[in-house]
Amino acid sequence: MPVQEREYDIILLGASGFTGRLVAEYLLAQYGIGGDLRWAMAGRNEAKLESIRLQLQGYEPAAPIPILVADTSDASAMAGLASQTRVICTTVGPYALYGSSVVEACAHNGTHYCDLTGEVQWMRRMIDAHQAAAAASGARIVHTCGFDSIPSDLGVLFAQNTMQEAHGVAARRVKYRVTGFGGGLSGGTLASMLNMMEEVKQDPGLADVMADPYALNPQGAPTGSDVNDQTGAIYDEDFASWTLPFMMAGINTRVVRRSNALLDFAWGEDFNYDEAVLAEGKGALQSKITALAMTAGTNALSIGPLRGLASRFMPKPGEGPDQETREQGYYNILLHANHPDDMEKDIRVKVSGDMDPGYGSTSKMLAECAVCLARDNLTVSGGFWTPASAMGTRLIERLQQNAGVSFTVE
Ligand SMILES: NC(=O)c1ccc[n+]([C@@H]2O[C@H](COP(=O)([O-])OP(=O)(O)OC[C@H]3O[C@@H](n4cnc5c(N)ncnc54)[C@H](OP(=O)(O)O)[C@@H]3O)[C@@H](O)[C@H]2O)c1
Repeated sequence: MPVQEREYDIILLGASGFTGRLVAEYLLAQYGIGGDLRWAMAGRNEAKLESIRLQLQGYEPAAPIPILVADTSDASAMAGLASQTRVICTTVGPYALYGSSVVEACAHNGTHYCDLTGEVQWMRRMIDAHQAAAAASGARIVHTCGFDSIPSDLGVLFAQNTMQEAHGVAARRVKYRVTGFGGGLSGGTLASMLNMMEEVKQDPGLADVMADPYALNPQGAPTGSDVNDQTGAIYDEDFASWTLPFMMAGINTRVVRRSNALLDFAWGEDFNYDEAVLAEGKGALQSKITALAMTAGTNALSIGPLRGLASRFMPKPGEGPDQETREQGYYNILLHANHPDDMEKDIRVKVSGDMDPGYGSTSKMLAECAVCLARDNLTVSGGFWTPASAMGTRLIERLQQNAGVSFTVE
């Protein structure tokens, strides 16, 4: 069925999960039901979906949220979902385990798609397998629409646009520095991280794919001079502070570099980008010890039995940080854009969120991406895009207006 005539604007798949329920809560609060935005909840377990609806709307609501039952292991059910809606917004993860049929169905049915994956190895597989089908059908497929990697991707776009407006050039380099955050982790996120480690154990070649700074660039596109992500403590002159490794850098930097490639290298083929955490107030020794401890923790999790042991004490799928933790959570990120030849003209911008990064803020970002894909007059054609290259400044406006994410020039 042509996209314009479909029954729904958005089907939220995975609404019974920890993050999916938060997305449903946000869509209901922000856009209502039975109004302009036609949306439905989908998942594999009808009883769980009904219980979520009861929690959100109470008994016998005037306009109940429509419920659709479908399991991602059933490819024809996924095609059925995809053909009923303009957009599928999915929180069914680990994506590498349960998400491939959803991408395939969208790519073949001209259905736009957004998700929360941070699984670089899986995104690479999906791009290679379905780019041609998505381009042919007109489906805009956009991964990484949560804390990975919206603040990075749109933060760089915002910094570059600011540099362009102020000085008429692109920044040669952008540095992303986390200055503070508070929140927690969900069982689904941990399951995705652990599954990624399992996949690398099964296929050690994947470690090379994930270590490639340009792992997500279009095949054959030029690559620049960026190297491995930071592993130790490094002193940053621009911030006059020591910096530590940032655990999401391995995802976000690949997404930002892909954005540059998809934007026809608007920021230059020699554009450099990196991410780190500011170790404000910490001296050299303390920073180096912290970095060593972080590396030891990551290495320990790569050992199978230790990973198994640790996961026994971590949240299970369906569990995550409570409401108080989400509401008291926040994040602040500074992005420093280096002018190509005059450091007096460097620009610094700030991206902040009003809730915890992983769930409170992520669920609002993902929902706004889905609405943006369904409603806004975007210029890009079908294919695999990044948030910045597909939705760009329109999404920045939406996030500022509705989702408690702010982008400001410092
Ligand atoms: N990038 C970010 O910033 C970010 C932030 C948050 C989450 N995430 C990612 O989002 C994903 C979800 O996290 P979460 O904590 O919400 O996980 P979760 O609570 O475990 O939820 C997973 C959802 O997937 C559903 N599901 C699993 N297998 C399915 C299948 N075969 N067919 C249909 N539905 C299926 C589950 O349904 P049942 O309820 O029936 O089991 C549940 O609704 C994870 O991959 C996580 O890494 C990313």
